[in-house]
Amino acid sequence: MRCSQRFFYFCAMANNSEDQFKKVISHAKEYGYIFASSEIYDGLSAVYDYAQNGAELKKNIREYWWRSMVYMHQNIVGIDSAILMHPTTWKASGHIDAFNDPLIDNKDSKKRYRADVLIEDHAEKIYQKAQKEIEKARGRFGESFDEEQYKTTNPRVVKYLEDHKNMLSRMAKSLENEDLADVKALIEELEIADPDTGSKNWTEVRQFNLMFGTKLGASAENAMDLYLRPETAQGIFVNFLNVQKSGRMKIPFGIAQTGKAFRNEIVARQFIFRMREFEQMEMQFFVRPGEELKWYEYWKETRLKWHLSLGMGEENYRFHDHEKLAHYANAAADIEFNFPFGFKELEGIHSRTDFDLKAHEKHSGKKLQFFDPEMNESYVPYVVETSIGLDRMFLAVLSNSLQDETLEDGSTRTVLKIPAILAPVKAAVLPLIKRDGLPEIAQKIIEDLQWDYNVTYDEKDAVGRRYRRQDAAGTPFCITVDHQTIEDNTVTIRHRDSMEQERIAISEISEKMRESISFKNWLK
Ligand code: GAP
Repeated sequence: MRCSQRFFYFCAMANNSEDQFKKVISHAKEYGYIFASSEIYDGLSAVYDYAQNGAELKKNIREYWWRSMVYMHQNIVGIDSAILMHPTTWKASGHIDAFNDPLIDNKDSKKRYRADVLIEDHAEKIYQKAQKEIEKARGRFGESFDEEQYKTTNPRVVKYLEDHKNMLSRMAKSLENEDLADVKALIEELEIADPDTGSKNWTEVRQFNLMFGTKLGASAENAMDLYLRPETAQGIFVNFLNVQKSGRMKIPFGIAQTGKAFRNEIVARQFIFRMREFEQMEMQFFVRPGEELKWYEYWKETRLKWHLSLGMGEENYRFHDHEKLAHYANAAADIEFNFPFGFKELEGIHSRTDFDLKAHEKHSGKKLQFFDPEMNESYVPYVVETSIGLDRMFLAVLSNSLQDETLEDGSTRTVLKIPAILAPVKAAVLPLIKRDGLPEIAQKIIEDLQWDYNVTYDEKDAVGRRYRRQDAAGTPFCITVDHQTIEDNTVTIRHRDSMEQERIAISEISEKMRESISFKNWLK
């Protein structure tokens, strides 16, 4: 929960992050952001529907990403490839053989977990212990505190940090070597218990393929086995040459796309953080062999800047460099976000080498090469990928935005401080009362604004209650039409975050809003 700096109120922080997370989930339902899928049938595990405000927020996040990626880079174009692909795609990409998660069951609770996530969660707790000690020391020593020195000299902190590092690198090594017995041994040595029941009675660790199978064809005998794509990236790889040729693209260049992906997650949990049907926003950047690590650093920095442009707090992001690399990568990092349940992966940046294009060359028998006129040679390009989950980004925005504030007069308000550029509804137009011609003026304002913005009308209840309702829904502006409007064509415009009100002419509303909701101002 992020606190506003305004002097006249302070944030009432939720007692703990679990409470905060529960609040986010119930707020999402109450204010029309997210519903459980097929709720009238008791829902479907880890599948969610985006409601009227949620669909808008999701669309706005997608657009913010697309514009920054495609419109702001002359050498990146966007495509929209099919979810169903030729099944050999998944043989070539390695998903049939290697897209597995290590699974472990608790014999007492009968609950199923990802073994690596159990270890990562345990490691995070140890890391947080070190952080707590560091923060305590910072409070004690004040200005003169040297964090780096403290980290390397305080015995307790040194031990926490070493334990954290050792357990993650041992896990990475065991997974790399497919040594699942050692993953189980590590869980036992660390005395990791079932998070729900506390039982330590575990089964062996097994591999589980995450792809959803389906069938193409009318009759059972002739049906072809297909998979729902587990990532959008392969739709880009198989179209690499089509796009390069039809777009006359020169290396380096990128192909972007957004779309649904499906994974039969062992444990889908934490609301929309880990879903079975989700959406990705991915970009594959094709570069000269040998230049991939330079571009990898470039995209790490560029993507972090994109996140920071939304103003959700620099302290809420951190990089996590991978120790265990996927079968296709020679460098990889996550941008982690401080979700209500701790820092977790929001986006991945991967240097995927020439693995995918070479594999598709091999399995299709078609050349997927670029003739580089400057080098006068053909080669299979290397690829740097940026991959972010749209639903995870949605959760980051929603959880960061939801705040409870106690105002100067002692009253409280719940406000969703969604960055204005992403807000589902940009303005609510409110006639002060339901007569004297005020609703008609309000409607005329709406008719003008709706050409450029998603706006809404609200005339029910006292205006103060309407303000609170719009605050909680995340609407950045409330425009109130009152009796003075009849006399001088002015309205009050109220800003959600500061609650400040200004008197402006009706003719100035659109421009006033544009200042706060322009892509240029945010992305710059
Ligand atoms: N093409 C590379 C790729 O798919 P990944 O790390 O497996 O890499 C990329 O996924 C991003 O997709 C993640 O950083 C995350 O934001 C999102 N993602 C992955 N699995 C997800 C799931 N089950 N539910 C929601 N988002 C997911």
